[in-house]
Amino acid sequence: MKEGNVLFSEERIKRRVRELAVEITRDYAGKPLTVVAVLKGSVRFLHDLLDCLGEHLTVELIEASSYGDRTNSSGSVLIRSYGQLRVSGRDVLVVDDIADTGLTLQSVVSEIETRGARSVRTCVLLDKPSRRRVPLEPDYRGFTIGDVFVVGYGLDYAGRFRDLPYIALLRPTEKAR
Ligand code: XMP
Repeated sequence: MKEGNVLFSEERIKRRVRELAVEITRDYAGKPLTVVAVLKGSVRFLHDLLDCLGEHLTVELIEASSYGDRTNSSGSVLIRSYGQLRVSGRDVLVVDDIADTGLTLQSVVSEIETRGARSVRTCVLLDKPSRRRVPLEPDYRGFTIGDVFVVGYGLDYAGRFRDLPYIALLRPTEKAR
């Protein structure tokens, strides 16, 4: 990955994640919180967020995948939970890497509401509002970006780049490599 492709450095991401954690901690004011993380893209974000969020937390993991190709969601989202998804009666914060069309978060929120959560909010590291296909507004967002494809810090392209500690633009010519 070329240096010129870096959109958000590791330091900038860490700083922003700490700010988000401060906001979340203030809003929930010591209430027990259930974090539902959407794998796999959120794994690094979740790790850094948990480092700053402190106590009174339980964590549930789910995997969501949309049918369709890499850049166009078909609108149908498959949700798989790891073990029981214990959200009934709880205040839930859904953590995901990015809100793109919004379809994944919309499906996850609706599933959690159906399972009887007391409240559901969403937290994404990145937001691409120009791509939205459903009226979804994340409650907490790290950075807003345009209609670009990004990788790193948990986000992958065909399984690559997930390990990068920063977020970089993936240009069309680099997709072919
Ligand atoms: P939506 O909001 O469209 O997002 O349901 C579904 C998932 O698409 C992935 N996504 C990306 N992955 N770079 C990536 O590596 C991107 O720029 C990008 N945009 C969307 C992501 O996994 C998200 O959860």
